[in-house]
Amino acid sequence: MYICVCNALSEGTVRTLAREGLSFEEIQAVTGCSNCCGSCRELAESVVAECRGIPVISNTLPALQMT
Ligand code: FES
Repeated sequence: MYICVCNALSEGTVRTLAREGLSFEEIQAVTGCSNCCGSCRELAESVVAECRGIPVISNTLPALQMT
């Protein structure tokens, strides 16, 4: 699956680079990820964080309802 369609960048490539220790910004510099339309940025950052063991805080999850 492509994470970044604009740059034909696969999820596997992003995961490999992240597991080798590259940050999102480093992956972006090497691959061009999110340098065009930018629509892939949130997903790419989440994948990198997951691979590097960084907790992911997403604003796309529904808020908990406190009753
Ligand atoms: S999909 Fe990644 S920059 Fe457009």
